[in-house]
Amino acid sequence: MKNLVPSHIAIIMDGNGRWAKNQGFKTRIRGHEVGVDALRNAAKYASKIGVKFLTVYAFSQENWRRPKTEVDALMSILVSSLNNEVQTLQENGIRLNAIGDKESLPKKCKIELDEAILATASNNKMTLTLALSYSSRQEITSATKKIAKKIINGQISIDEINENMFSNELSTAKMPDPELLIRTSGEKRISNFLLWQISYTELVFINVLWPDFSDEHFEEAILEFNNRQRRLGMTSEQIVKQY
Ligand code: IPE
Ligand code: IPE
Ligand code: MG
Repeated sequence: MKNLVPSHIAIIMDGNGRWAKNQGFKTRIRGHEVGVDALRNAAKYASKIGVKFLTVYAFSQENWRRPKTEVDALMSILVSSLNNEVQTLQENGIRLNAIGDKESLPKKCKIELDEAILATASNNKMTLTLALSYSSRQEITSATKKIAKKIINGQISIDEINENMFSNELSTAKMPDPELLIRTSGEKRISNFLLWQISYTELVFINVLWPDFSDEHFEEAILEFNNRQRRLGMTSEQIVKQY
């Protein structure tokens, strides 16, 4: 039986701080640095097995509440990674994309991000979306405002609001909803990530800290996904699995 590869996988990359602590590092920063290696590896693996969209939670809007030293370190890791990883993205046919409040990022991050997005724009094997300064509630609120403006301007009527048009106002508009969401580190919560988009997503919680996340863990999560029956409201009898 061949494993079905989800076309869109979302990952909450959690556990960098605990990893650094477990390894005996004085600060949490080393965990974030090694976390970049884990992301590079996961992106390569995903594009190799045929995933079309990989969306990763890299920095939440709530993460701004962390100590300034950690936030500064994360932003500088972001800048250097964007700089260093473009070649890997090109070699693997990966197009970079970002969702979240880009305007709140330091100028240098924004510039590097835009450059990397532009440089990889014609790659078409997989889209890697970084959720940066992202809040799902914020995204939903902002979609609501956009729709309200369209009504006020007379572009649409209230009756024209439907799920599809709402989805199209979100930052994930051009992507299918994720079939699989993986969270590492053992925490079992969503932390304000893609709330609208994961209404029928299979959730897989893996007991490994993000810097240790390997191809084997990724494969394990996809296997677990394949062992689930996605009923989408129907009965088991109605579901005919197609392989
Ligand atoms: C995830 O790891 C990375 C970010 C949130 C930026 P954490 O930094 O949350 O690590 P833990 O959960 O404290 O171990
Ligand atoms: C969620 O992780 C955000 C990212 C992985 C970037 P957190 O570690 O910030 O989540 P909480 O605060 O423990 O829920
Ligand atoms: Mg965490």
